[in-house]
Amino acid sequence: MPRPASQLDAIATNRAYWDDRVEGHWRSAMYRRAAEALRGGGHCLRDEIVMAVGEVKGQSLIQLQCHMGMETLSWARLGAEAVGLDFSKPAIDKAEFLRDELGLKAEFHCADIYDAPKVVGRRFDVVFQSVGCLCWLPDLKRWAEVVSAMLEPGGRYVLDDCHPVSDMLEQVSGGGGADHLEPVNPYLNGEPIVFTGGGTYADPDASFTQNKSVEHVHPLGDVVTRLIEAGLVIDRLTESSRCEFPRYPMMQQTGPDMWELPGKLRGGLPMHYTLVARKDK
Ligand SMILES: C[S@@+](CC[C@H](N)C(=O)[O-])C[C@H]1O[C@@H](n2cnc3c(N)ncnc32)[C@H](O)[C@@H]1O
Repeated sequence: MPRPASQLDAIATNRAYWDDRVEGHWRSAMYRRAAEALRGGGHCLRDEIVMAVGEVKGQSLIQLQCHMGMETLSWARLGAEAVGLDFSKPAIDKAEFLRDELGLKAEFHCADIYDAPKVVGRRFDVVFQSVGCLCWLPDLKRWAEVVSAMLEPGGRYVLDDCHPVSDMLEQVSGGGGADHLEPVNPYLNGEPIVFTGGGTYADPDASFTQNKSVEHVHPLGDVVTRLIEAGLVIDRLTESSRCEFPRYPMMQQTGPDMWELPGKLRGGLPMHYTLVARKDK
């Protein structure tokens, strides 16, 4: 089905935004830590994600929107026959560079997620997506159809993403140091939101030339319902107040790659969720 011109424009805008961030991400402390974990013979996945996905040894796994491939390579290190897909060519170039440096076996594709079934042309035991994925996608119905089309019957799907409530909120200065979070984006209307502020989660102080992005707040109800409509069975949906990066400047680091809101807000607002689903045989 042809895509509306507005969606194609947004995809082109977002691709330019992502292409421009790759070098900065590659050099950032956050991604250097991930690459070092791989170089040291380990992986960069959080324990709860490894548990949520389960045993991958000898299984086929695709990560959609894999960015520079560090998680995809981690799945390869854990024994999966791993494939990563992302629409940013510079990101895929980094993934292939790191794969070759590490001598790991993994396949990478540069493509729009909506073209994944056609471009990759096969199904997987596991489909995986992680932090910072769905906000880039204009059409959840087609996303869910892609996930379902990429899964073998009996295959499983794990989505580990930023919570849409966190996509609604921004830190606002109240003066006198009294910063607070304010809902600046609606939760429910599904309209695209244009950002021009620049920056990046991996290095908030870095500057870039392509700063316009078109993003979406996808309510959890829509995420779950679109997957069910596409034929998946939802096994688990867990929400958490912790973030892997300082989503707002006020967040405090409470562990390696772990950030939480301060004071009375701590533990009270969902920042992140993990969804586990499967496609029946
Ligand atoms: C926040 S990053 C994911 C980061 C990943 N969890 C990691 O840390 O390695 C989001 C990724 O989505 C990709 N992306 C955004 N829109 C896409 C689309 N329509 N098709 C394919 N990839 C897309 C971007 O290029 C970027 O690499």
